[in-house]
Amino acid sequence: MEDRKITRRQAIATASAGAIGALSVVPFSSFGLNTSQKLAIHGGEKVRQTAWPEWPVWDKTAENGIVEMLRSGNWWRGSGGHVAEFEQKYAALMGTKRCLATASGTTALLVAMHVMGVDAGDEVLVSPFTFIATYNVIFMNKALPVFVDTDPETFLINPAKMEEKITERTSAILPVHIYGLPVDMDRVNAVAAKHGLKVIEDACQAWLGEYKGKKLGTLGDLGCFSFQNSKNLPTGEGGAIVGNNDEIMDRCFSFHNCGRPFGSVQRTSDYPIRGSNRRMQQIQALMLLSQMKRIENDANLRLENAKYLDKKLAEIPGIEPYKLVTENARSAYHLYPFRFVSEQFGNVTREKFIAALRAEGIPCSAGYGRQNHDGLIEDALNSKGYKRLFSEQRLKQWREENILPGNDQLAKEAVIFSQSMLLENKTDMNDIVNAISKIYENRNLLV
Ligand SMILES: Cc1ncc(COP(=O)(O)O)c(C=O)c1O
Repeated sequence: MEDRKITRRQAIATASAGAIGALSVVPFSSFGLNTSQKLAIHGGEKVRQTAWPEWPVWDKTAENGIVEMLRSGNWWRGSGGHVAEFEQKYAALMGTKRCLATASGTTALLVAMHVMGVDAGDEVLVSPFTFIATYNVIFMNKALPVFVDTDPETFLINPAKMEEKITERTSAILPVHIYGLPVDMDRVNAVAAKHGLKVIEDACQAWLGEYKGKKLGTLGDLGCFSFQNSKNLPTGEGGAIVGNNDEIMDRCFSFHNCGRPFGSVQRTSDYPIRGSNRRMQQIQALMLLSQMKRIENDANLRLENAKYLDKKLAEIPGIEPYKLVTENARSAYHLYPFRFVSEQFGNVTREKFIAALRAEGIPCSAGYGRQNHDGLIEDALNSKGYKRLFSEQRLKQWREENILPGNDQLAKEAVIFSQSMLLENKTDMNDIVNAISKIYENRNLLV
């Protein structure tokens, strides 16, 4: 496979030098495009003339049920069965015993972390290549996020770098299946078992992604999902926790419902444990029940198109699609990521590449940044509470060790396409490949 890639890359380099006719492999212009034409960013014609699909997509057939619920006045989960119905169906989809619906992915993480015992003064190992919510929830629990370096090839937490970050305060690992890519959960769970740590999966971008035959979010102690508007399963705002342990899931339920007794959470008083209101509303559940009808077909279509892109994009010098941690896994493709390696692309900067690609009618953006240097971190570490909870020496050491070269590299190289672009057909994927090929052919004009 690798050999073929090198041969192909060498062939492309020759092609771009003007020897297309002499090649035995199919050149860039295989989809009917003359890639040497003027770039759109320089006033040429765009490769892609038509719009990409809108997201989210609404199914009007769900409207009668929603109107009925609205007219009934039974809007919260306590007065209707839609949230419980969604929980039962989502658990079945994930292959877990239980699911608890929550107001958002953030609240799912907050509940899960509290129930898993992440407490003030604890430390939590976490990926830095993620959305702000992942480490915000650690701060909300008054714990210290300890960032573990990213493997730039997989875009994910590097399990080989986890143990060196463990201290006697570490209580949990929060791996993130970012963009829907599966973290190497066997290795994460092995480290957790060795050091007695809890594992809470941030599967907020990973519905129906899989690792060794199991759904992402079902491999740790608890898994958390988001159903925010942009997500592959959207309801504006919404979230869920999945798990197999009844006692733990009862505690999650109780905590998310102000600490009221639930199941094995005993009625010693009206509120036997601490809690908060993190409940999902009936309207969110009805929307999700409707959205769930398409989720499996969508996931399969994204996978098919992503596999096609993987193959085609890997043939272009400087374009490195994500690498799966094992062949026995599938991404959920919340976003389709690749690395743009400027040195192999005529030293064109990533920013110029992105601007040129957008001009060709292919929406794309940079991935996450150096989140381990996010301003809110110093805001927290300098707060009265954190100074009480952590010694000056520990915070100094934290700052000194907050050096993540793998993540820094990825923050410079990542480029992403949105999931809805993967809901098109092969011709549309060819537009993506053609546009990048065209930019590659014209790379000298971009430096
Ligand atoms: C990786 C990750 N974690 C957590 C969240 C938080 O989810 P929500 O926005 O539903 O609160 C998100 C949402 O974008 C996310 O992408």
